[in-house]
Amino acid sequence: SGASRPRLSFLGTGYLGATYAICFAELGYEVLGFDVDEAKIAKLAGGQVPFHEPGLDELLRANLAAGRLRFTTSYQEVADFADVHFICVGTPQRGDGMGADLTYVETSVTNLARHLTRRALIVGKSTVPVGTAEWVEQLVAKHTDPQLQIEVAWSPEFLQEGFAVEDVLRPNRIVVGVKTDWANGMLYAAHKGVFDLAATEDREVPLVVTDFATAELVKVAANAFLATKISFINAMAEVCEVAGGDVTQLAKAIGYDPRIGNRFLQAGVGFGGGCLPKDIRAFQARAQELGAGEALRFLHEVDLVNLRRRGRVMQLAAELLGRRSGPAGPDLSGTRIAVLGAAFKPNSDDVRDSPSLAIAATLAKAGADVRVYDPQGMENARAAQPGLSYVATMAEAVTDAELVCVLTEWAEFRNADPQAMGELVAQRLVIDGRNCLDAALWARAGWQYRGMGRPHPQ
Ligand code: UGA
Repeated sequence: SGASRPRLSFLGTGYLGATYAICFAELGYEVLGFDVDEAKIAKLAGGQVPFHEPGLDELLRANLAAGRLRFTTSYQEVADFADVHFICVGTPQRGDGMGADLTYVETSVTNLARHLTRRALIVGKSTVPVGTAEWVEQLVAKHTDPQLQIEVAWSPEFLQEGFAVEDVLRPNRIVVGVKTDWANGMLYAAHKGVFDLAATEDREVPLVVTDFATAELVKVAANAFLATKISFINAMAEVCEVAGGDVTQLAKAIGYDPRIGNRFLQAGVGFGGGCLPKDIRAFQARAQELGAGEALRFLHEVDLVNLRRRGRVMQLAAELLGRRSGPAGPDLSGTRIAVLGAAFKPNSDDVRDSPSLAIAATLAKAGADVRVYDPQGMENARAAQPGLSYVATMAEAVTDAELVCVLTEWAEFRNADPQAMGELVAQRLVIDGRNCLDAALWARAGWQYRGMGRPHPQ
């Protein structure tokens, strides 16, 4: 059954699973979303996306109304319903801070497998250490009747927060790791909606069919490359700072070479989020286990460059406020600092491993009276860093501040009027942690401006 229009389930309705479930319903599939979290399922079933993602709410409501999309907390219902089951559960960083924790993968696969009574394909989507697909296959074999011929495949995802709907509906490639023609055919059918949409728009979506290990590696290799690109430009920013160069012009100039490309060369306070930082650590740990630790030693440097950028903001803050730095960092007691941005990037409410929030916490720890404002990330920020003070507007954050730090490049901050803001602050000092402000404009409005890897404007 289902070879032409398979019914799909998505296990784990976090960021990844919820977005996929909703978008594949939009593509015309009958979809069931599963999670063990009853509150999350109740929200989704009631038409509410539990996180901030542009365009997703509307699609959720439309597809619930159309009857193509349902949600459940029952493994039995999922097992009975779908031909293709996508595993989208989280793979957090392990307690040791390096490898990935596969507990959720194990639990969801085992419980699903135990309830299956008909042939189905189980497809891993979560980011995992290479070798996991083989392990999942053994797990499935252990918990299902061989007569059912349950198969396993791996298909990594590449969606970016803030662009997730587009990335799922119009991906720049689909990668599948399969062992049999049957699995390949089922996965093709499960993605046919994506290929059909592309055809109507005169596009093509490249399909890479490969083995398990390659499919798993594609995902972490892509994220390792992106992280390396960001740390490369941040390393150049460090050099520019001592040599008197401007990293923004440097990035522009090297980016004209199509072999390099101009994207992901934005120097600033570094990368954060739920993926890049944890993925490069887990990738190193896995390579080490496999005896190829040396091959990824450079990723340790990528991590270090990234974390050093946070320290650079502390250094600039001390310099601007005329404070000396001791061995434990600067003493900023008695100063008032506005931190604009808590999310790890704009158009997201995600604060996981956010450089902005980490810097806000370090400024507060150094004694500063820190006021944090973010257009979307306040609720998550409060939960992650309850000790900081949060305010409801940008104006409130900067009022009477002796230093303004722009740490996430939201449009609200990029478009802020330096003249108007200058009326509110105690003194016109600004650190542009994302190089997102017009330095000359701010300097003309009387601000002492400090960017990342750029000379100070006169
Ligand atoms: C990242 C990848 O871009 C996705 O392709 C991947 O699917 C996803 O991880 C994942 O593994 O699930 P995401 O974490 O949403 O996506 O965010 P990015 O847009 O990649 O940004 C990551 C961080 O790098 C942000 O903190 C951002 O501010 C920073 N960044 C990005 C820079 O500092 N400079 C840049 O030039 C680009």
